Amino acid sequence: MFKIAITGKGGVGKTTFSGTLARMLAKDGYDSIAIDADSDMNLASSLGIKNPPRPLTDYKDLIQERAGETGGFFNYNPKVDDIVEKYGVVGPDNVKMLIMGTVEKGGTGCMCPASSFLRAFLRHVVLKENSTVVLDMEAGIEHLGRGTTKGIDLMIVVVEPGMRSIETASRIKKLAHDIGIKKLAAVVNKGELEPVKEHLEELNIHLLGGIPYDENMVNADLEGAAPIDYGGKAVDSIWNIKNNVLQLLLDKSNNPN
Ligand SMILES: Nc1ncnc2c1ncn2[C@@H]1O[C@H](COP(=O)(O)OP(=O)(O)O)[C@@H](O)[C@H]1O
Ligand SMILES: [Mg+2]
Repeated sequence: MFKIAITGKGGVGKTTFSGTLARMLAKDGYDSIAIDADSDMNLASSLGIKNPPRPLTDYKDLIQERAGETGGFFNYNPKVDDIVEKYGVVGPDNVKMLIMGTVEKGGTGCMCPASSFLRAFLRHVVLKENSTVVLDMEAGIEHLGRGTTKGIDLMIVVVEPGMRSIETASRIKKLAHDIGIKKLAAVVNKGELEPVKEHLEELNIHLLGGIPYDENMVNADLEGAAPIDYGGKAVDSIWNIKNNVLQLLLDKSNNPN
C-alpha cells in the first residue's frame, strides 16, 4: 500500500498526471483511490468520472459529529475509516475518487474541526494491503505541512522545462525531510527532458521520467475526456513513469532524500 502526493507549480500538469496515474494503478489491479486535495477540484475529468462526488467539507454534520467539540474538547483523532466507501465514487477501471473541499481559514485556522478531519482522513486513508492513494495537491508549497503530508511514501513534483518550476522543486526538496516525506522524485512534463535533467541532478532529486508536450492532452481536456481513454505519446510515457514509480516504492534501499 502506497500513498503518493503530486505537487508542483500551478498549470504544470499535476491534475492530468494524477488522474492518469491513478487510472493506471487501477488497471494494474490496485485498489486505486484518487483524492482531489486542490481547491480547483478538477481531478474528476482527468479520471474520466462524469459525476464527481460532493467535497467532504460539504458534509458539515459529519465533520461536526466526528471532529467537533464534545464536552469542551475537540476530537483530533476522528474516525475516518468509512469515508472512502461512503463519500467517494467509483469510476472507470474501478478507480475510486474523493474530493476534500476547501476549509475557510478563519482566526483559528488549523484548529477547526474541518481541517483536523481532513488531516486525519489523509493520514489514515490507506486501509487495504493492495491500496494505492494518489493525492492531487494544491499548487505551490505554502500548504505543505507535517499535518497533511505525514505518512506520504512518495512525493512527485511535476516540473515544466523552466526555472520557475525547478525553483518550486528545489523548495519542496528543502522541505521534504521536515514534513516527513519518505521519498521525493520528479517528472518533467510538456517538454524536453534534457535541459531539466541536470538541474534535478544538481538538486539531487530522483527523475522518474519525462512526458512530452502532446496535443492529445489538450484535446482530451477540451472534450472532458480522461487522457488515458484518449491515448497518445504523453500517456505512453506515463505508463513508463508508472512502472518507475512502483519500482521506486518497492525498493526499500533507495531513499532519494
Ligand atoms: N504533456 C502535456 N502536453 C500538453 N498539454 C498538457 C500536458 N500535460 C498537461 N497539459 C495541459 O496543461 C493544462 C494544465 O494541466 P493541469 O493538469 O490542469 O495542471 P495543474 O493541475 O498542475 O494546474 C491542461 O490544459 C492540460 O491539458
Ligand atoms: Mg490541478
